[in-house]
Amino acid sequence: MAEMTLKIGGHAFKNPVFTASGTFGYGDEYEDIFDPALLGAVCSKGLTRFPREGNAPPRLMETPAGLLNSVGLQNMGIEPFICEKVPQLIEKGISVIANIAGHSTEEFAEMASLCNESPGILAVELNVSCPNVKEGGMAFGIRRQSVSEITGACRKALQKPLIVKLSPNVTDITEMAEAALESGADALTVANTLLGMAIDVEKRAPAIHNVFAGLSGPAVKPVALRMVYQVKKAFPHAVILASGGIVSTRDALEFFMAGASGIQIGTGLFRTPDLPLRIIRGLEEFCDENGMRTVSGLTGLAIKEMS
Ligand code: SIN
Repeated sequence: MAEMTLKIGGHAFKNPVFTASGTFGYGDEYEDIFDPALLGAVCSKGLTRFPREGNAPPRLMETPAGLLNSVGLQNMGIEPFICEKVPQLIEKGISVIANIAGHSTEEFAEMASLCNESPGILAVELNVSCPNVKEGGMAFGIRRQSVSEITGACRKALQKPLIVKLSPNVTDITEMAEAALESGADALTVANTLLGMAIDVEKRAPAIHNVFAGLSGPAVKPVALRMVYQVKKAFPHAVILASGGIVSTRDALEFFMAGASGIQIGTGLFRTPDLPLRIIRGLEEFCDENGMRTVSGLTGLAIKEMS
């Protein structure tokens, strides 16, 4: 059986298949379907300093090959997550990554340092890319300087692996990747949702209350794949977690070969709730059938200069 572990910073995750923030609740909602402890990690719903109710409905809409969401970071707040949820998740053996979204550099750093106090949080993912909030969110992730500042401040505050979840809504993803890596990120998630919208023709109005929304699912896969390839080619040592429309082992293999070291499954969970387990098995089988001793051997195989 191929070796499946994925190292990020100082931590070795048991396999490279994670669930994406916002699509798997706080980690325990799927327990009746499969054991979340089998996952490499669960990325929590985006956590803010204080609880948020999120945006008004309508805030979700299916598209022919994806999903528009404008949830607006509805969450319980980081302290209840740390005090109430994480202890239960540790007991169940679930590997937790806290996805955090601050309103300012200082708030990001404060939240990162709160995560130090929680042994069950194995790593922190900085959400500098949520397209659905007025303050912060994607506005941070589309500017090199704010990506650098927030990553640098959290690197100082946090004694755990640090992941930065990049926005795809930029001209040059490698510029943001460079800013995060130079400022101390151990890994990059490439990428959050693409900004989109829908119109309700009967109402002659935007279909989503907040007007714009983040597009995920198979529709965005080629865009995310291109960005993973670009980032890995520019920064061969970068550890990339690919996120964008993965619905099969074949999709996962494409992302690994484009340069990912791990993957995050998001929207695909809504149609196939046990998809991550199918993909873990599929990756193991592919490696075994192709005589590969480690899943990490797949990373970047399709990048021209690297293969
Ligand atoms: C949301 O809660 O609006 C989605 C989170 C995100 O895109 O980061």
